[in-house]
Amino acid sequence: MIETPVIMVNYKTYSQSIGESGLELTKKIENAAEASWLVCPQPVDIRTIKEKTNIPVFSQHIDAVKPGSNTGHLLIDAMVDAGVEGTLINHSENRLKLSEIDEIVTMCKEKGLTTVICANNPATSAAAAALKPDFVAYEPPELIGGDISVSTAKPEVVREAVERVKAVDPDVKVLCGAGVKNGKDVKKALELGTEGVLLASGLVKSDDVEGVIRDLESSL
Ligand code: G3P
Repeated sequence: MIETPVIMVNYKTYSQSIGESGLELTKKIENAAEASWLVCPQPVDIRTIKEKTNIPVFSQHIDAVKPGSNTGHLLIDAMVDAGVEGTLINHSENRLKLSEIDEIVTMCKEKGLTTVICANNPATSAAAAALKPDFVAYEPPELIGGDISVSTAKPEVVREAVERVKAVDPDVKVLCGAGVKNGKDVKKALELGTEGVLLASGLVKSDDVEGVIRDLESSL
């Protein structure tokens, strides 16, 4: 089980976080981090990062398919074999149907994988909680990749997402993400009732990765 508070770094498809660059970035996180971190690399990089670092690795996505005649999909069995401990589901950059989200959560539970359903507002966060994931991550799409942190721009909405998720299932943990850049953003997110953050560009695209890691950690 992932320790909280947690900082989840989504490598997305940034050139700074694929292949050897992704491995080096993960090693920097491993060397500098003292709190609970995990990374979500490109699928083809998962096995190498898992074998060469001790940071927990999540998939950015898993498809709702079973072994067999499927093409171009991410099979949960292959992701487990590569070493993932969990997965993001329904990220705003890879939106899924409700039935697919439900099927993926069920498959992950069967395999012992941690589940993080991403949601774009408090209502969808509450709906996601009904599927009993381990985490719901509230991420307003309009703030993703930008300079303003969700915890600064929408504190009342973050708090509402936490309240609505907990009203559905108090065991579901809440994260928030979008625009998170520093320890102040993380501290504010924790004050609003979340148990961690998802971030990408603020760390992956930084020229001072170690400095950003230390700053993010300063809040934990
Ligand atoms: O999954 C987290 C991601 O969507 C947030 O992106 O670049 O705003 O930290 P970013």
